[in-house]
Amino acid sequence: SAAEKGGYASFMLKEIAEQPKAVADTLLGRIDAEGSLTLDEVRIPVSVLREATKVVIVACGTAFHAGLIAKYAIEHWTRIPCEVELASEFRYRDPILDQRTLVVAISQSGETMDTLMALRHAREQGARVLAICNTNGSTIPRESDAVLYTHAGPEVAVASTKAFLTQLVACYLVALYLGQVRGTKWGDEIRAVIRDLARIAEDVERVLETMEPVRELARSLAGHDTVLFLGRHVGHPVALEGALKLKELAYMHAEGFAAGELKHGPIALVEEGLPVVVVVPSPRGRSVLHGKIVSNIQEIRARGARTIVIAEEGDEAVVPYADHLIRVPVTPTLLQPLVSTVPLQVFACELATARGNEVDQPRNLAKSVTVE
Ligand code: AGP
Repeated sequence: SAAEKGGYASFMLKEIAEQPKAVADTLLGRIDAEGSLTLDEVRIPVSVLREATKVVIVACGTAFHAGLIAKYAIEHWTRIPCEVELASEFRYRDPILDQRTLVVAISQSGETMDTLMALRHAREQGARVLAICNTNGSTIPRESDAVLYTHAGPEVAVASTKAFLTQLVACYLVALYLGQVRGTKWGDEIRAVIRDLARIAEDVERVLETMEPVRELARSLAGHDTVLFLGRHVGHPVALEGALKLKELAYMHAEGFAAGELKHGPIALVEEGLPVVVVVPSPRGRSVLHGKIVSNIQEIRARGARTIVIAEEGDEAVVPYADHLIRVPVTPTLLQPLVSTVPLQVFACELATARGNEVDQPRNLAKSVTVE
């Protein structure tokens, strides 16, 4: 009903708007006054976390994209090798697992059959399973060794938005916690990132306040058939997520690519007027990547693409090549997905509405997929 939507036209719009609170709630009580993480609820002994030789993440859809981003954070902060796999592929591959493997199963609903089957398989092989889940007492956390709940609140719209942002937060917490208990050389960086995380809800709020031009842009693209998304580093999974949202909601052909792959094939798709969304990494930190993606934007624009550029505030290098520029606040590189995903959610939601689609209940989809 209209009341349940809290005055919003759809649950999806309401849930997009709830993201700052969802992010803050997921952090609540997990960072102490000294800026250390307290994840006592993770009932996997610290000794097991210290001795883990590998992390394997299993998930589906949007939760899988959260896992792809987590890989960058886990490997950088902990130096533990991390694999991310679609839950539906996992057990059929006969994956290598043992008692020193930490499996992380990410699921909003906690009822996704593919993810459940993957974690059952992992436990049969002796691995420990940590669930990241949004639904209290659901099957996936019940069958795992431990659970870190996301506190997004109930997510009703089929397209996942606030659950995704809180999955990212939970993944960062797991990565930082592993770094903390194992004592890596990134100690100072970890402390700085924990401070930045504590402030990130305000950044998400700032993004939400500046979305009107994104909505306008989305409406102007309602007649297009295809939108491409490019990104690199953690921007690559963000591009995949932007494309998934557009498929689900607008029923448009949308594909996400690693920007470095352009010249290995996808650039052949670029033609006059094709909208291409580019998620640009920070010019600070990994500045080499920034330069490379600016070249990619130039290349596709020279071939007629209409460039829609998501870039950090103050990044002036992209300005000459952006037909549309969407600004996001300055964040540490690894945290950027928390802000850069939001415009893509708004973009897909608005485009779907402009095309006359039902936003909360897209055709052919169910909120949780309880069959394999
Ligand atoms: C997201 O917008 C999708 N509807 C879908 O990909 C979803 O993320 C996937 O089915 C996994 O669901 P879960 O998080 O409940 O396990």
